[in-house]
Amino acid sequence: MSAEATVVLKLSNVESAYGPIRAIRGVSLQVIRGQIATVLGSNGAGKSTILKTISGIIDPRKGSIQFKDEDITARDPALIVQRGLSHVPEGREVFPLLSVHDNLVMGAYTRKDRDGVARDMQSVYGYFPILKERAAQDAGLLSGGQQQMLAISRALMAAPELILLDEPSLGLSPRLTREIFEIVIRINRERGTTFLLVEQNANMALNVADFGYVLENGRIVMEDTCERLREKEDIKEFYLGMKETGVRGERRWKKKKTWR
Ligand SMILES: Nc1ncnc2c1ncn2[C@@H]1O[C@H](COP(=O)(O)OP(=O)(O)O)[C@@H](O)[C@H]1O
Ligand SMILES: [Mg+2]
Repeated sequence: MSAEATVVLKLSNVESAYGPIRAIRGVSLQVIRGQIATVLGSNGAGKSTILKTISGIIDPRKGSIQFKDEDITARDPALIVQRGLSHVPEGREVFPLLSVHDNLVMGAYTRKDRDGVARDMQSVYGYFPILKERAAQDAGLLSGGQQQMLAISRALMAAPELILLDEPSLGLSPRLTREIFEIVIRINRERGTTFLLVEQNANMALNVADFGYVLENGRIVMEDTCERLREKEDIKEFYLGMKETGVRGERRWKKKKTWR
């Protein structure tokens, strides 16, 4: 970490549960301003729970969450958005009966700077021209990929410093996933927006992100730069499906079909 690196988000020992199910157990992680961080983990590892706890949808049982200079642990989700932290949920959750344009307007509901909102609307249409073409259509009529683009754009309309991105690749073709990640990288570079991306698609996420955490059964079991994570043998074997020989590896690979 360089001397200028600023931690924008910091989780310390966070634990969240659904009744008796302890979904995340003592998660500590940090995100550096201007970077893309990723949490990798298979289905049920606790990725979405981490993001829901950060954005205030779930209150943690233990631990604390710091965003910039403020403790945001268990604060009101609307206040957290206002502070500059937006959440793109798993499954997109666009408003299906509102037009594409009105979905974007909803994303800006906490803002009062009309000129800024109009500028950002043009900017997201620049990133995703298909949304401009479909501006008047109901969002429910968009394809899965287009809904993902709209969900990211709606988050951008809040003018966030940090975007929490929950499995954008879910249900999308590799080509479409790559297209969306290319825009995420552009948004990161051009606007300086910081991202915390959670993914089952380790291959894709490790190519996009700067720093990665590996989550298993609600615990962080590994953390490193993505460059180094890509080289680690156990990541290659179990998360990237690169082990071609050996019965053990193959069997595991079949079990974890969701790892592409
Ligand atoms: N609303 C819920 N009620 C009860 N258990 C849940 C709920 N949401 C998630 N879980 C459980 O919490 C654990 C972590 O889930 P989740 O955070 O959704 O994982 P991931 O996003 O990595 O797939 C899983 O065991 C899951 O079954
Ligand atoms: Mg999830």
